[in-house]
Amino acid sequence: MAEPTCLSITLFVLLITISASFAAPPPTSQSVYDTFLLCLTKQTKSPTQLNDIVFSQTNPSFSSVLQNYIRNSRLNTTSTLKPLIIVTPLKKSHVQGVVICAKSIGIQIKIRSGGHDYEGLSYISDKPFIILDLFNLNNVSVDIEKQTAVIQAGATLGEVYYRIWEKSKVHGFPAGVCPTVGVGGHISGAGYGNMVRKYGLSVDNVIDAQVVDVKGILLDRKSMGEDLFWAIRGGGGASFGVVLSYTIKLVPVPETVTVFRVMKTLEENATDLVVEWQKVAPTTDDRLFMRLLLQPVTSTTVEGNKTVRASVVALFLGGADEVVSLMGKEFPTLGLKKENCNETSWIGSVLWWSDNDAFNNGAKPKTLLDRKLNSARFGKRKSDYVQKPISRDGLEGIWKKLIEQGKVGFVFNPYGGKMAQIASDATPFPHRAGNLFKMQYSVTWDDPSEAATQNFLTQARKLYSYMTPFVSQNPRSAYLNYRDLDIGINHFGANSFEEGQVYGTKYFNNNFDRLVKIKAAVDPENFFRNEQSIPVKA
Ligand SMILES: Cc1cc2nc3c(=O)[nH]c(=O)nc-3n(C[C@H](O)[C@H](O)[C@H](O)COP(=O)(O)OP(=O)(O)OC[C@H]3O[C@@H](n4cnc5c(N)ncnc54)[C@H](O)[C@@H]3O)c2cc1C
Ligand SMILES: *[C@@H]1O[C@H](CO)[C@@H](O)[C@H](O)[C@H]1NC(C)=O
Ligand SMILES: *[C@@H]1O[C@H](CO)[C@@H](O)[C@H](O)[C@H]1NC(C)=O
Ligand SMILES: *[C@@H]1O[C@H](CO)[C@@H](O)[C@H](O)[C@H]1NC(C)=O
Ligand SMILES: *[C@@H]1O[C@H](CO)[C@@H](O)[C@H](O)[C@H]1NC(C)=O
Ligand SMILES: *[C@@H]1O[C@H](CO)[C@@H](O)[C@H](O)[C@H]1NC(C)=O
Repeated sequence: MAEPTCLSITLFVLLITISASFAAPPPTSQSVYDTFLLCLTKQTKSPTQLNDIVFSQTNPSFSSVLQNYIRNSRLNTTSTLKPLIIVTPLKKSHVQGVVICAKSIGIQIKIRSGGHDYEGLSYISDKPFIILDLFNLNNVSVDIEKQTAVIQAGATLGEVYYRIWEKSKVHGFPAGVCPTVGVGGHISGAGYGNMVRKYGLSVDNVIDAQVVDVKGILLDRKSMGEDLFWAIRGGGGASFGVVLSYTIKLVPVPETVTVFRVMKTLEENATDLVVEWQKVAPTTDDRLFMRLLLQPVTSTTVEGNKTVRASVVALFLGGADEVVSLMGKEFPTLGLKKENCNETSWIGSVLWWSDNDAFNNGAKPKTLLDRKLNSARFGKRKSDYVQKPISRDGLEGIWKKLIEQGKVGFVFNPYGGKMAQIASDATPFPHRAGNLFKMQYSVTWDDPSEAATQNFLTQARKLYSYMTPFVSQNPRSAYLNYRDLDIGINHFGANSFEEGQVYGTKYFNNNFDRLVKIKAAVDPENFFRNEQSIPVKA
């Protein structure tokens, strides 16, 4: 019953063809390793420590270090090109050294914080590369007096929430609902969670940052300037530098909050529920966030009948009586009763959202520190934005499609509230006023066969195509943190501006141009790049 809140190549075929078409012989692993290590030793002046943090392919720990933060098994195959080296810095100067040395030998780096990129861009490549893995840089220092925290890129969201809770029961932070997601990718890509209607995105609550630039220089907000500081709040860190930490502004949360889940199948009038949800969820009290999950399932009431189940999963920043009465007035088809609700602390709601069953079994906040290394399932995600309600007829067609395909589902995340009050160019994330909700296409599976992978990728793509009339157009917008290489790819190393403009416009709409200008100013040679990075205009 637990929905896949916390998971997560056709590309393989593509990548292999591309790498084969480049004639220059790849540097051998050993020669790159020797040159790189020599450089890093000079740069960091700490040769003994380096033995523990620089992993060549022949190091017995290489595979486990690589796999620990692979969060999508689809990108964990033997045919995937492996990095020549993995470096796991223990301090800032190590990161500076890695940038300087990788640049000097002309080798690509991929930056990994929590490894949750849905297409694995933090740990795969079609060219020889080094992984700069930041999991050791995970300090979270909370200052309750100032109501701020400095959170390092390699910290997980679970660690951030836990460290805040240690210091205060009435402070929180608006970020994602999966505790193993990393700060570095999540916040540089915008970040949202179940307080998005009250407090906006994670990046709307960032006040400073530390970045290592392409010259290996350590910058803070003041020294990097407002352009770069703007870019790394939603434009994706990997195009601009290595984010070491963000300074965040904590937000107030009440001592008691309420969570609930209500489920209805089509036989139980789920269609009415979804029609109503589209009106209420984006406009109701901004203390209330009601996520809607839609999944094709086998009916439990009518034998053998296939149906769709709609689940409303919610956080209310207040008590149960208040939200039950509010829903009675605004959303009667939900039929919310006090028995459906759990009143708990804010950290309790974090536990409930990450794992209902564990919450009911009395999970302690400490479980948020569990990094769940080397555990993943196969998955694919895509995204869309909905700007006008989908009609009843429209919904009925969508149910047919979900049932016919049998596996792919949706997660609808309502906007409105604070999201509609922030200008679309305040940060690189442009999807603000005018968007009712964001849709995520979601499919997760365990069958490792290539046939299964092809089947589910095809299902997701067909559903995406079917949804065209219901979603944003010109551009058809997408959320960077729901990375999807189907919407465009910059063939690695080619740095085509035209290719970059395709996905760039979808992710950033009118903010794309400013990101391109900033990219040209801070990294004109395009050292920091990946399959969907901000291109440099020739
Ligand atoms: C199970 C799961 C649940 C999720 N839930 C949510 C959610 O509730 N809300 C939401 O908004 N998103 C959610 N996401 C998406 C998530 O925010 C993105 O995948 C995010 O980019 C992950 O960050 P990471 O550090 O774990 O990933 P990584 O794979 O390490 O990095 C993602 C990208 O950022 C780059 N990057 C990482 N660290 C740095 C750094 N320090 N400096 C510069 N660039 C860097 C990488 O190179 C890569 O391009 C979820 C993803 C998963 C798999
Ligand atoms: C990756 O594959 C290896 C080898 O098949 C397996 O042992 C490991 O558990 C897998 N890890 C993930 C995260 O998929
Ligand atoms: C973070 O660093 C500070 C000092 O810089 C230290 O006091 C604190 O214990 C560290 N926190 C964690 C969670 O490691
Ligand atoms: C569904 O709606 C119909 C018509 O409004 C109503 O008669 C029926 O009782 C509803 N069923 C459920 C399970 O709520
Ligand atoms: C069977 O499922 C369909 C949706 O697939 C639903 O509309 C119908 O009401 C269900 N049939 C019965 C007898 O419940
Ligand atoms: C949460 O609410 C459900 C439904 O009322 C109940 O079964 C469960 O025991 C509650 N859990 C806790 C930890 O209070």
